[in-house]
Amino acid sequence: MGTLAPLLPGTVTLVAGGPGDPGLMTVAGRAAVEQADVLLVDHLAPQEALGWARPDTEVLDVAKLPRGRTTPQERINALLVAHARAGRRVVRLKGGDGFVFGRGMEEVLACAEAGVDTRVLPGVTSAVAVPALGGIPVTHRGVVHGFSVISGHVPPGHPTCTLDYAALARSGTTLVVLMGVANLAAIAGELLAHGLPGGTPAAVVARGGHPDQEVRAATLATVADAAAGIAPPAVTVIGEVAAFATPTRQLEETR
Ligand SMILES: C[S@@+](CC[C@H](N)C(=O)[O-])C[C@H]1O[C@@H](n2cnc3c(N)ncnc32)[C@H](O)[C@@H]1O
Repeated sequence: MGTLAPLLPGTVTLVAGGPGDPGLMTVAGRAAVEQADVLLVDHLAPQEALGWARPDTEVLDVAKLPRGRTTPQERINALLVAHARAGRRVVRLKGGDGFVFGRGMEEVLACAEAGVDTRVLPGVTSAVAVPALGGIPVTHRGVVHGFSVISGHVPPGHPTCTLDYAALARSGTTLVVLMGVANLAAIAGELLAHGLPGGTPAAVVARGGHPDQEVRAATLATVADAAAGIAPPAVTVIGEVAAFATPTRQLEETR
């Protein structure tokens, strides 16, 4: 089934919402929103995209706000299954790409366990798009031949942290940190401790693609201070390519 095939009743479609500007959603994602009988929406998904839905489409806000109101994942899974079993075309609209720190696979597995068919429409992840909106390519010929995307949700050394910071520090890749603002001092300190030079360029791009997008350029040694008080969501880039950071918005308003 192609990405643009019509949605079938009784199925769930995961749609990548991109980093926030509705112009960065895919054509297939928009077509799915237009056909939805019920939409389950995250807080980082482009809210303007809801305007593409039919007037009779039921919209459910299932946000998980950092340090705020939250919808448990089990509840979201149960809603997806229940609405699909009721014969509806269910669209799950998520921020960025649902398979990058998006718990998308958990929803696919929950549906599979319940015998509900799913379709995944991949899309634009903030891990690549937000740096780009801040003028930063995650790779650049002759400079860096790879990038590592990591979650800064828990600090280095936390019992649930699975990252090898020593390996990251010597990886020679651009480091792209999502969900990392609160732990930025610890993350930068760990990379410094493992030998990444303090003068390595770094930049924080906050609210990428939104009208109030903000870019703060720094170095590894200063990035935590530079990010002080910044309003989330934000992506931090560490590596030579961060020197390309520009405060200019790269995208014309599409709203
Ligand atoms: C739970 S993760 C979800 C990532 C998402 N699935 C993706 O592919 O972009 C949320 C994090 O994505 C990043 N993020 C998402 N949208 C952003 C935006 N418009 N500007 C800056 N960072 C963003 C932030 O690091 C935020 O804390």
